[in-house]
Amino acid sequence: MPLLDVHNLSKIYEGKVSTQALNHIRFAVEKGEFVGIMGPSGSGKTTLLNVIATIDEPTSGEVMIGGRDPNKLDRNAKALFRRKELGFVFQQFNLLDTLTAGENIILPLTLAGVPVPEMERRLQEAAARLDILQLLEKRTFELSGGQTQRVAIARAMIHRPSLILADEPTGSLDSKTAGEVMGLLAEVNEAEGATVLMVTHDAVAASFCHRVIFIKDGRFYSEMYRGSSRAAFFQNIIDMLSLLGGASHDLSPIRL
Ligand SMILES: Nc1ncnc2c1ncn2[C@@H]1O[C@H](COP(=O)(O)OP(=O)(O)OP(=O)(O)O)[C@@H](O)[C@H]1O
Ligand SMILES: [Mg+2]
Repeated sequence: MPLLDVHNLSKIYEGKVSTQALNHIRFAVEKGEFVGIMGPSGSGKTTLLNVIATIDEPTSGEVMIGGRDPNKLDRNAKALFRRKELGFVFQQFNLLDTLTAGENIILPLTLAGVPVPEMERRLQEAAARLDILQLLEKRTFELSGGQTQRVAIARAMIHRPSLILADEPTGSLDSKTAGEVMGLLAEVNEAEGATVLMVTHDAVAASFCHRVIFIKDGRFYSEMYRGSSRAAFFQNIIDMLSLLGGASHDLSPIRL
């Protein structure tokens, strides 16, 4: 059984003009996989992530995570499911600015009622892995963009969720820092066996994934596996993106 099974998922935003953001999209992600989602602006990537995250409800179709459909749960159970099973890394607005970096990281454990010594142990472990031990006492506004994303990754993984969802985690970073953050995310995926689903415009970031799924107009378009060479994968991704089309500003500058 796959860890994540997106089955015939559709999402229509009703309004003066209704928009079909997702159109019968289907794919599955195995436990431990690191999967990228790419596609032109407006193709439904964020919508897809939000529906998987149970932040937004599907119009039809379903999302199964670990064999369960969180959208069938009542409000409280859904909130609990989200807190326990999912980890989030977003482009911005990741951290609570009233807390220190360390307090932000242990937030999922605080909410889950994990005993303090256990929290402290896991905090040290995660911070060591992401090389942010010296940042734990800092306030969020004292962190650089790359440091913020490392703290966000630490927070997304600390409760060992079944699925980490990331929307443009390197979107606001320079290319060197983006590469470092991607390397860390790949390391977390490998060392912790965490399953990661990441939306990105950045072909370099995507080249860290095991597999990239391309979507267009809310539909599955194609997918590619990395194989042994990240450089070759990067080139294949670039080629696919130009085939996919979209305005040139949809694609971030190529970073090498
Ligand atoms: N809350 C909303 N209400 C109405 N329409 C929406 C809403 N959110 C997204 N849409 C529409 O759904 C479509 C998909 O949007 P989405 O944000 O998922 O695209 P995206 O692939 O993440 O784009 P980008 O790469 O620019 O972030 C777009 O046409 C968008 O205008
Ligand atoms: Mg988006």
